[in-house]
Amino acid sequence: MEQTLALVKPDAFARKDEVVLKVVSAGFTVEKSAELQLTPARAAQFYAEHAGKPFLDDLCNFMCSGRVLAMVLSKEGAIKAWRELMGPTDSVAARSTAPDSMRALFGTDKQKNACHGSDSPEAAAREIAFFFPPSGEIPDLATGAAQAA
Ligand code: PPS
Repeated sequence: MEQTLALVKPDAFARKDEVVLKVVSAGFTVEKSAELQLTPARAAQFYAEHAGKPFLDDLCNFMCSGRVLAMVLSKEGAIKAWRELMGPTDSVAARSTAPDSMRALFGTDKQKNACHGSDSPEAAAREIAFFFPPSGEIPDLATGAAQAA
């Protein structure tokens, strides 16, 4: 069974129960989950592939602005299925083209777009290990209030 890494971003964290209900209704199994707050350093590491893009700093600041829910989801074709359920990156566009998607229902724009999902098997393996390392220790993350970088 394929696995993918799903995040409920800070803008949708208050509605995480609704997100999880839709995840389960869509046939995913939530294999692992953790509520945590990213530090700036960890956010920059997570989004390293976007280095040089003009929105990177804003995106990292936003991702550290509150708690996120990280989940390992499994299903046949989980990577593609979760990205379809999330909808397009821009929540404004999603409301026209994918009105039942997570980003249409729970997001606001390209940054505050409710959810993240791995975009390839390689990314899924890397991102799952980032949030759920084999050692069981989650480095440099807070499970409660905000943590300094
Ligand atoms: S890109 O440019 O093709 O890489 O963009 P995309 O793959 O659609 O998005 C990658 C992540 O960057 C976020 N994003 C933005 N944040 C802030 N401002 C702007 N303009 C912006 N555009 C894209 C987007 O939410 C994606 O975040 P994740 O967490 O990967 O879903």
